Amino acid sequence: MLQIGLLGLGVVGSAVARGLRERASELDQRAGMPLVLRRVAVAHPDRPRQVPVERDRITDDAWAVVRDPEVDVVVELIGGIEPARSYVHEALRLGKSVVTANKQLMANRGRELMEAAEASGADLFFEASVAGGIPVIRTLKESLAGDRVREVVAILNGTTNYILTRMDEDGLSFPEALSEAQRLGFAERDPTDDVEGHDAAAKLAILASVAFNTRVVRSDVHCEGIAKLTQREVAYTRELGFALKLVAHARDLGEAVEAAVYPALLTSTHPLASVRREFNAVWMRADGAGELLLYGRGAGGEPTASAVLSDLVAVARNRRAGAHGRVACTCYHRKPVREAGERVLAACLVLRVTDRPGVFAQVAAAFGDEQVSLHSIVQQNRGEEADVLLRTHPAPERALRAVLHRLHAMSVVRGCSPLLRVIA
Ligand SMILES: NC(=O)c1ccc[n+]([C@@H]2O[C@H](COP(=O)([O-])OP(=O)(O)OC[C@H]3O[C@@H](n4cnc5c(N)ncnc54)[C@H](OP(=O)(O)O)[C@@H]3O)[C@@H](O)[C@H]2O)c1
Repeated sequence: MLQIGLLGLGVVGSAVARGLRERASELDQRAGMPLVLRRVAVAHPDRPRQVPVERDRITDDAWAVVRDPEVDVVVELIGGIEPARSYVHEALRLGKSVVTANKQLMANRGRELMEAAEASGADLFFEASVAGGIPVIRTLKESLAGDRVREVVAILNGTTNYILTRMDEDGLSFPEALSEAQRLGFAERDPTDDVEGHDAAAKLAILASVAFNTRVVRSDVHCEGIAKLTQREVAYTRELGFALKLVAHARDLGEAVEAAVYPALLTSTHPLASVRREFNAVWMRADGAGELLLYGRGAGGEPTASAVLSDLVAVARNRRAGAHGRVACTCYHRKPVREAGERVLAACLVLRVTDRPGVFAQVAAAFGDEQVSLHSIVQQNRGEEADVLLRTHPAPERALRAVLHRLHAMSVVRGCSPLLRVIA
């Protein structure tokens, strides 16, 4: 049998405990051995819980669970970097396999933990750390092992996608959509991590590392959120046939890679344009397979537990085959991650300008002065003012930012959206 030490019995941990109980016979058959929940560590052991775990299996001493000689695999579902990192490191040092859903841990300390796993020949699986129930890590590591992935565009944060959907489809303002998301449990009381893009950036660091076989850490990922977007910009870009989404975008350029999270305009035919509400999706382009799309629930107890349980089955299968560490670290390249300013992308800006002669010329000059060439300009009059959407040809991000700076300084420019990259 495979004896499991579970750290954390919150949203995901509870769903894992339930899954182990309710799907025991299928899991045992797929794993080739019984998966047994031996011990559980939590912060507050006496808290009442609706989970099928006997009280005498629960402790507040995570070290005792990690070091229990009967525990074969540690499932880390505490979150954050410390003390989770110390527990995971110790488990691996002792030769125990580890399954984790912890994006912060893997995005910041993945290398060190992968090395510890390799040194002891243990498995370290983290399918649930990116896009919850969507099986993207194993798809990349195993199903696409014969291919070469060049680009990933993903919606990795359900909270921001929910907010943007409500702003787009129902005319809500950003604060209205956010408070609704909080009321429905899609957003935390402190939504900073989600709305500023930090959550998606941690997931993208992991995804890009696995997709391009080179280490990308959280601090490599440039990140802009959605908090500055207004209803007007969302509505106007929709009128022009775009979907405004917070995307995580990574490319393998051969000698270097890029990874960034930002609000982007997707053309209406892009597969991610129709991903609504709290759903997540990962679009990939590979040399052989071409375009691929994975879609599903990127968070929530049950979807995330689905990924954790799959990892446990993988650990058990490896154990049966005597082949620990079979799908170990795949970051065998050492490619630099490009600075944000060096990225070359087409972008849009939505401006509100004073509607009088000469204004267009002034605005266009700001682009010309920075050597940014314009692809199209669409104007909609709104009385004394006009909304203008300016779309550029691909240009270095540094130049686009300089244009933005010039526009902000112009008295005729009454409002200016953040930089909206265009993903065709
Ligand atoms: N929730 C999701 O939808 C989701 C989706 C994907 C990935 N994840 C990841 O899954 C992990 C768990 O998330 P969650 O939402 O389940 O968190 P959660 O509901 O806050 O649960 C955290 C659990 O960890 C326990 N804990 C905290 N500190 C501990 C310590 N020092 N020792 C032992 N136990 C400790 C808590 O104990 P008490 O119950 O006693 O307080 C609680 O049971 C995180 O890494 C998260 O990023 C979550």
